Amino acid sequence: MKILLTGGTGYIGSHTAVELIKLGHDVEIMDNLFNSKITVLDKIAEITGVKPKFYQVDLLDVNGMDKMFAEGGYDLVIHFAGLKAVGESVEKPLLYYKNNVGGTINLLECMKKHNVKKIIFSSSATVYGEQGVTEMTEDMQTGVGITNPYGETKFMIEEILKDVAKAEPDFEAVILRYFNPVGAHESGLLGEDPNDIPNNLMPIIMKVSLGEIPELSVYGDDYDTVDGTGMRDYIHVVDLARGHVAAMNKMNPGVSIYNLGTGRATSVLEMVAAFERASGEKLPYKIAPRRPGDLAKICANPTKAEKELGWKTELDIEDAMRDTIRYLKNVKKK
Ligand SMILES: NC(=O)c1ccc[n+]([C@@H]2O[C@H](COP(=O)([O-])OP(=O)(O)OC[C@H]3O[C@@H](n4cnc5c(N)ncnc54)[C@H](O)[C@@H]3O)[C@@H](O)[C@H]2O)c1
Repeated sequence: MKILLTGGTGYIGSHTAVELIKLGHDVEIMDNLFNSKITVLDKIAEITGVKPKFYQVDLLDVNGMDKMFAEGGYDLVIHFAGLKAVGESVEKPLLYYKNNVGGTINLLECMKKHNVKKIIFSSSATVYGEQGVTEMTEDMQTGVGITNPYGETKFMIEEILKDVAKAEPDFEAVILRYFNPVGAHESGLLGEDPNDIPNNLMPIIMKVSLGEIPELSVYGDDYDTVDGTGMRDYIHVVDLARGHVAAMNKMNPGVSIYNLGTGRATSVLEMVAAFERASGEKLPYKIAPRRPGDLAKICANPTKAEKELGWKTELDIEDAMRDTIRYLKNVKKK
């Protein structure tokens, strides 16, 4: 299959590119390189033996996308491109709505013009908002109690895809709601670039380990959880990448929605301990007050993906820590 990955030099896109190329698919990547590096293409080539064709094109550049689609002849688009820093989205909401929602509308128009009917979209567990529930299933209500513009963009794009599918009976969309992606490729060549503004746990652990942040702040140790700290469903990025392959193989007209998570929640202190075990180093941390809006525990119910896609996670936190540390060693070498 000929597949376009928007945002394909990014963290999740690059790991998905590797899985698709290994299966013999013809993968092309478009990215504006805002949050990723062109050198990722060489890393993909080092792992797979194939360097994907690359377009440095922005979702907001309609002419550039039109040209790319005219050349491409794609069967499927996997749409990773988007801005993802939750805190930044609160400060710059228009940037997020324009880039993520406006950019996706441009992409969908371009797909329609060039007769591309299939899309897989990177959504997020944030669409479930704050409902006081710890285990999320796909049929739960979404869009209520979302606390930031980033999450709103994911919700809005989901609604847009549903409306397009209603209007066009041969349109096929899969919405994948990711939980908390962590880890790196086992080669140590691909991972989450710690140059990002860290807003979630693993990049902060990486920055503490690199000595760029003095210590990890653990927000709250008095939640009703195993050790009082917040618990999340951390999914290894390679399992997540394989979830896209499984989804791609079972596409149908209309919109299908799947949670991609492990179904197990891990606490912040359990993550710290796993990092310390894998690295052999002590990770300095301090307990800080709870952050407003944080929930005690959020976890995927991944049963639907298992039943319908035949997909489930195979890697665990120990694998994620081992692979992250291998990637960190490469980063430190530079
Ligand atoms: N990493 C997570 O924790 C997480 C969780 C849930 C959902 N997601 C979603 O998954 C997708 C991929 O996330 P990631 O972690 O790989 O992020 P990433 O930042 O590593 O990758 C996204 C890529 O999109 C590119 N991009 C952004 N705006 C663009 C534009 N206008 N035109 C072209 N390229 C553009 C960036 O340069 C980057 O390479 C995103 O849509 C993100 O919101 C991520």
